[in-house]
Amino acid sequence: EKSGYASFMLKEIAEQPKAVADTLLGRVDESGTLLLDEVRVPPEVLRETSKVVVVACGTAFHAGLIAKYAIEHWTRLPCEVELASEFRYRDPILDHGTLVIAISQSGETMDTLMALRHAREQGAHVLAICNTNGSTIPRESDAVLYTHAGPEVAVASTKAFLTQLVACYLVALWLAQHRGEKFGDEIGEVVSELAGIPGDLERVLETMEPVRELARSLAGHDTVLFLGRHVGYPVALEGALKLKELAYMHAEGFAAGELKHGPIALIDQGLPVVVLVPSPRGRSVLHDKIVSNIQEIRARGARTVVIAEEGDEAVAPYADHLIEIPEVPTLLQPLVATVPLQVFACELATARGNEVDQPRNLAKSVTVE
Ligand code: F6R
Repeated sequence: EKSGYASFMLKEIAEQPKAVADTLLGRVDESGTLLLDEVRVPPEVLRETSKVVVVACGTAFHAGLIAKYAIEHWTRLPCEVELASEFRYRDPILDHGTLVIAISQSGETMDTLMALRHAREQGAHVLAICNTNGSTIPRESDAVLYTHAGPEVAVASTKAFLTQLVACYLVALWLAQHRGEKFGDEIGEVVSELAGIPGDLERVLETMEPVRELARSLAGHDTVLFLGRHVGYPVALEGALKLKELAYMHAEGFAAGELKHGPIALIDQGLPVVVLVPSPRGRSVLHDKIVSNIQEIRARGARTVVIAEEGDEAVAPYADHLIEIPEVPTLLQPLVATVPLQVFACELATARGNEVDQPRNLAKSVTVE
């Protein structure tokens, strides 16, 4: 049951540190070696893969978009990510060298199921990332890596999304391991940082009161925009999706670099714009670009809600509202950056009088095409 929480969604948001820890449990050893024998993909398939294709819907698709950055960076394999509903109607190029990853919380989403059937018919090897034991998608796949989020009751996906990300990172690192990619300092760091994520999430959850206050103050608005770059772009899409489905508001996510190609025309006095800021360490080019995007929209009247790493002094002066998240490697940042967006959408929906666990017109598993 709800264990004292006002909604299943709030409960499931709070369960994320544990969901992530459970999904990591027993899958990485102390030396940073990935232990994924349970997945049963034959080693020759892993070695001979020449392309990865991720198919999924909705929030699971956003996990796939983030996975692409990790898979390509760590394995040097080309990775495509596609909405399952588009993939199956477009004659995709698939063969024995294609590893298809089908991501689904429920394991019953019809479009994802049809996409994986099509992929298998073409000779591709299909690995499911799924949260529901024995559901149709893992049963019909060649292999499965289960996320251990526990049952997700609220219609809007929260803890399943974070564990899908963890599963994608594990698969990416495991592919890299099998393909003999050099496990340089970066990968070693990532493996140990992953172990620290549950603690980071606890800290994020403890600092959410200002996010809730902000959400309540925006309840009368019609539109919220979300901007990000690199892995922050899919996080922006996810933030917008949460707000649409829960608060029934017009919400859109954009790649910040696309602003000047159109969306900047939407910026108006007082328009709330949530911006995901990559770490100022590492790829600082990305950071500097987004700081200038924030300046551009602010100069045009936007009310900036900035999600940035703790101690990021360069961005602070341009934030009307600053939400700080812990320092983690850029590729892992979606794990900590998504939580404030979930809390934001949940609180805004509640302030607007909506039922957060059962948004109108939506079903938890979409078993029709
Ligand atoms: C959004 C949401 C949906 C699902 C999508 C896929 O919060 O819950 O977008 O992510 O319907 O569902 P699964 O993962 O069960 O295939």
